[in-house]
Amino acid sequence: MKRTHDCGKLRKSDIGQTAVLMGWIQSRRDHGGLIFIDLRDREGITQVVFNPTLSPNTHKQAKELRSEDVIAVRGRMEARPEGTVNAQLGTGEIELIAGELEILNAAKTPPFPIEDNVLVSENLRLKYRYLDLRRPRMQANLKRRHQILRVVRNFLDERGFIEVETPHLTKSTPEGARDYLVPSRVNPGQFYALPQSPQLFKQILMVAGIERYYQIARCFRDEDLRADRQPEFTQIDLELSFMDQEEIRSLMEGMMTEVFWTIKKIRLQTPFPRLTYSESMDRYGTDKPDLRFGLEVHDVSSIVTGSSFQVFQETLNRKGAVKAMVLEGLATLSRKELDELTENAKSLGAKGLAWVKVSPEGFESPIVKFLGEPLLRTLSNALSAKSGDLLLFVADQLKTVREVMGGLRIQLAERFQRIPTDQFRFVWITDFPLLEFDDTEQQYVAMHHPFTSPLDEDLPLLETNPRRVRAKAYDLVLNGSEVGGGSIRIHLRDVQSRLFKLIGIDPASAQEKFGFLLEALEYGAPPHGGMAFGLDRLVMILSGAESIRDVIAFPKTQKAICLLSDAPSHVTEQQLKELHIKLDVVE
Ligand code: AMO
Ligand code: AMP
Repeated sequence: MKRTHDCGKLRKSDIGQTAVLMGWIQSRRDHGGLIFIDLRDREGITQVVFNPTLSPNTHKQAKELRSEDVIAVRGRMEARPEGTVNAQLGTGEIELIAGELEILNAAKTPPFPIEDNVLVSENLRLKYRYLDLRRPRMQANLKRRHQILRVVRNFLDERGFIEVETPHLTKSTPEGARDYLVPSRVNPGQFYALPQSPQLFKQILMVAGIERYYQIARCFRDEDLRADRQPEFTQIDLELSFMDQEEIRSLMEGMMTEVFWTIKKIRLQTPFPRLTYSESMDRYGTDKPDLRFGLEVHDVSSIVTGSSFQVFQETLNRKGAVKAMVLEGLATLSRKELDELTENAKSLGAKGLAWVKVSPEGFESPIVKFLGEPLLRTLSNALSAKSGDLLLFVADQLKTVREVMGGLRIQLAERFQRIPTDQFRFVWITDFPLLEFDDTEQQYVAMHHPFTSPLDEDLPLLETNPRRVRAKAYDLVLNGSEVGGGSIRIHLRDVQSRLFKLIGIDPASAQEKFGFLLEALEYGAPPHGGMAFGLDRLVMILSGAESIRDVIAFPKTQKAICLLSDAPSHVTEQQLKELHIKLDVVE
């Protein structure tokens, strides 16, 4: 038999036609006389009817059918009898009256039903990924991923970008994670590093005069895994010459607009809002704020200074900060719930959590007696708090206050359902600090990567006040998730050397690690910059998935294992010997 139609597209207008369908048995219902099967292929489901009077032999064959068997069936499309139409199903008005059946392959009983919304452990799903991927939701996720990539490719192609592949067997790229290493057989004792990103090569492509590069690039990072992190993941990676930050951001907004329009029929408002890093840290306690809800953080240090509340005053004396958050309508929380909140704050790093309930009678709080009514009134006015609201305060060193408030903000919004799930809120975070001080290394390190350009006006501060130098770096945040990041790069060798010096990379090791890039900068490197999107995260958010594992065909577990193929695995003595490797594994 030759397939003539797929199982998703048959409609009333096809009635009377002969069709050959091929696919999997979703379900079989034996009504004694008639046998019904739901036949599934990638495009959908069609009901097939086996009638013992019309085709006795075929009907007998159909008795054998089990879930997930693969069949070919020829028959006539007919209207379903009155009262049996299924309005939920695209093909719900018709059915195929089977005349001929061929069982192409019988299936073992699957370890879980091939349906959405059944409770299955993720490990079982990953082991039988080919069955998991048969489920409609997973098929939709893979299709959506493909569509997003198609929009991106078209968009970039129309704007003169060239897709160039860069090596997987390469040298270490400094994106801050551990490298995956690959031993070289022909160069004993030497290793390639799998790229953490194509960063160095895309900059070299700019020196090579490519001007506009992109790549759907696989990146490898040996880091602790989470719901939005995989050891290998995909970037939409791009680089451009002769464009400034604002031009790049606006181009990328255009790309996101096109993606959201095609995939979701949502028109994004451009330009996206922009927050500087320091604004974002002050108002949301994080550099990836979720702007779908308010719950902003306010600095009240100057208001509470001088109060007789020891906790606040001592913190301020030690150059710390006191910050507050207003929770609308939550003055109803019980003592027990407030104690729980305090425990949450402590597990985020706080020493304590102070609370004040605003009520028509005044203020209710263990610290009213320390702060006093007049100060509390000033506070609640400054915070625009209303009767029925709950005020939360954390006092500590700035870094801790930010972390705690940032964390509490998300926890509270989730717990009290303040996050609208149908919204997509983008925000650019700009003006990142160029450097951060690593306390364990006692050393400045690059916050983005060491090829990021300082702001022109901050260049003189490189040697005098490195902490204050801001970078031409930007992240794109969507609903509280960092979906992309990029920067304008250093294209002048001299600036690059000054930066390396600051972050403790001496000329010899700079030469060893990135000599090829440094040398390239001396042969007419154009001003350039770019960005990379985390494709998996973008698809995850657009799919409403909880984890990027749900939008990657063959992901790895928390322990970086592929349960389907059982990688990583042991290799033979012979292979190790060829690679000049002796194992020293401590059990
Ligand atoms: P960065 O390291 O910020 O920048 O990575 C860019 C984007 O990639 C995504 N991402 C990840 N997604 C899944 N799993 C991971 N382990 C993972 N790590 C990162 C994030 C992130 O925003 N070369 C620079 C880009 C540039 O400067 O042009 C880079 O790689 O969504
Ligand atoms: P104490 O005097 O230590 O019992 O604290 C009185 C109140 O202040 C309690 O509700 C504590 O949870 C709260 N508190 C203690 N330390 C802090 C802090 N660093 N920031 C905010 N509130 C705190």
